[in-house]
Amino acid sequence: MEKLTVRDIDLSEKKVLVRCDFNVPQDANLNITDDTRIRASLPTINYILSRKPKKLILISHLGRPDGKVIPKYSLKPIAQRLKELINQEVKMLNDCIGAAIQKEINQSQESVILLENLRFHPEEEQNEPNFSKSLATLADIFVNDAFGTAHRAHASTEGVTHYLTSVAGLLLEREISYLSQAMENPQKPFALILGGAKVSDKIGVILNLLPKADEILIGGGMSYTFLRAQGKQIGNSKLEKDKLDTAKAILEKARKQKVKIFLPVDNVITDTIDTISNSRTQELKNSRTHIKTVGENIPDGWIGVDIGPKTIKNYCAALKKAKTIIWNGPLGIFELDAFANGSKKVAGFISQLKVVTIIGGGDTAAAIAKFHLESKMTHISTGGGASLEFLEGKTLPGIAALADKK
Ligand code: 3PG
Repeated sequence: MEKLTVRDIDLSEKKVLVRCDFNVPQDANLNITDDTRIRASLPTINYILSRKPKKLILISHLGRPDGKVIPKYSLKPIAQRLKELINQEVKMLNDCIGAAIQKEINQSQESVILLENLRFHPEEEQNEPNFSKSLATLADIFVNDAFGTAHRAHASTEGVTHYLTSVAGLLLEREISYLSQAMENPQKPFALILGGAKVSDKIGVILNLLPKADEILIGGGMSYTFLRAQGKQIGNSKLEKDKLDTAKAILEKARKQKVKIFLPVDNVITDTIDTISNSRTQELKNSRTHIKTVGENIPDGWIGVDIGPKTIKNYCAALKKAKTIIWNGPLGIFELDAFANGSKKVAGFISQLKVVTIIGGGDTAAAIAKFHLESKMTHISTGGGASLEFLEGKTLPGIAALADKK
């Protein structure tokens, strides 16, 4: 990796400011429902603590409070969870900048301190220089470990690096190393599995990885625009009309570059749109919902919601030969058990292969967690938007701003 990391600098007796991505899901009672991102930051936290710093000061955002103090977005539940995980007291402060906070940090008996949500201040997302400077005055060294937020040029990811020696944390290093190795130097054959709702979200990834991939397997909402571009009937399935030409152009480009594109040859379909729009619920509440499997053509009034059994078989046969697999986007509405089969079967299949399996964050990571296959994948990214932009080949401002090794 080209950037300096926590391992490259002396941390002893230093005040170390670490940007984490503690943006974790919570239920209505603010209980943390998935602490993956907090656990993912432990290697960096434990490493820094082992170097005996003067203070370890943790900062993060949670949700999108839009520059206002909104109690439900407080990081207090995170402090509690972190304390359990590191088995050490975590002092929670009620703000993230200012003289009072600085004094509290300096006088604190505890060595681990968590500051309140950065996004309670509008200046964080505005990347406002004075706000960045105020964060910088709290410490001697800045460590960015928030891969999930590295695509944002915010005060705590980019701005602060102008005022402090800034290095990567171990999670950031791990993410960059797995993602870039798989993208830049994949063991061949290299298969890309793409799904999720929209073609528009994945165009950048397809165009960036098309020259390297041997095969691209498409499912999820985005597959219906591709099927339509091939002249298939897609009934009432999701169609991005303005992306039909793009889909055709991608299919043509892939043909010329001899990259095999796989599309569903059968689909699980339903007739109830209400169920789809409420798809976050675990059950199909509407008893009048009909579900069936059809071939490539979907009749009017029906909506594609998952890949069918023949497609699953085709995809598994294609993936069997791959040495590197990158997966971004579920193959159906996996949140509903009735439409999770395609994602589940493909996930289960690749989890058995002795190959490099890289899972994009966000929904794909949530699907893998739902199927309890996390430990069977080579790497599951903690970044949704960030991993997508990385796979698009974009420069992420939170990474670019860190000190170079040279
Ligand atoms: C994420 O959950 O993708 C990151 O924490 C970034 O959050 P944001 O999309 O609100 O900037």
